[in-house]
Amino acid sequence: MTQNIIAGDNLAQFVADKIELVEGETVKLCQRIKTLQDIKLFTQQHVFAVWDFKCLIEVIVKRLDPGKYPQAASLMRNIYAEEVYDNIGRQVFSPDKDLLSHYELYLIAMRQIGADTGPITGFVELVEARGIEQALVKSTLPEPTKDFVRWTFSFFDAPLPRLLAAFVFGREAITAKMFGPLICCLEENTAGTEKYSALKFYLERHIAVDNDVHLPQALSMLDSVCETKEDWLQARVGAYQALLARFNFLSSIISAETVHQLQTEEQP
Ligand SMILES: [Fe+2]
Ligand SMILES: [Fe+2]
Repeated sequence: MTQNIIAGDNLAQFVADKIELVEGETVKLCQRIKTLQDIKLFTQQHVFAVWDFKCLIEVIVKRLDPGKYPQAASLMRNIYAEEVYDNIGRQVFSPDKDLLSHYELYLIAMRQIGADTGPITGFVELVEARGIEQALVKSTLPEPTKDFVRWTFSFFDAPLPRLLAAFVFGREAITAKMFGPLICCLEENTAGTEKYSALKFYLERHIAVDNDVHLPQALSMLDSVCETKEDWLQARVGAYQALLARFNFLSSIISAETVHQLQTEEQP
């Protein structure tokens, strides 16, 4: 019963307060985005949250044993399928491919605007070759970007309610709050420019799907898994950690410090 989320130790209010902070930080971020270069830098950092989201849901699918959690496993498989095989996006932006994940769609959007996909693809190769710990140590990415990815991976072995809450509250519940202001910001800065079509599609599609479909499904999933007070406590911890990580990440995106670091690293 989703009432647990609403009533349980005021978790709903606790989460709503943190989400409001995330929304406020997004508005501040949008005020820093003024040029094409700013949009490119934004995507070059934000893409790490797109990629690690794919990693996050892969882990959740694996950890939700259908025998033990039939309802949650079924709900998660639906969400996962849309994330990994986006038919609408594929038909528009990559009709030659059989499958198109949202991460791949985001890479298409980045290439469309001339953003550098090298840092993310290089990092993913490093993770595949050396594992996440080594990749984070060796990478020259800005520290806040690494911190965000580090937090995401830290949930993978956490108690299941904490992992699920990081997904529910740190991802599905905040999409509209973050992407709404970002779309306004993009429209102000790119009016009539066709080359932003994939990025706009990505943002708009997530607002529609996450808010209306995935969030209710994700809340039901969490509710079906959490049985004890300890489970809900773990969920609260996961929500807090994920939203704090998101807040810090948003604060760092195209901040003066991060841009300086990115520019320094781009020099040969
Ligand atoms: Fe997605
Ligand atoms: Fe979603």
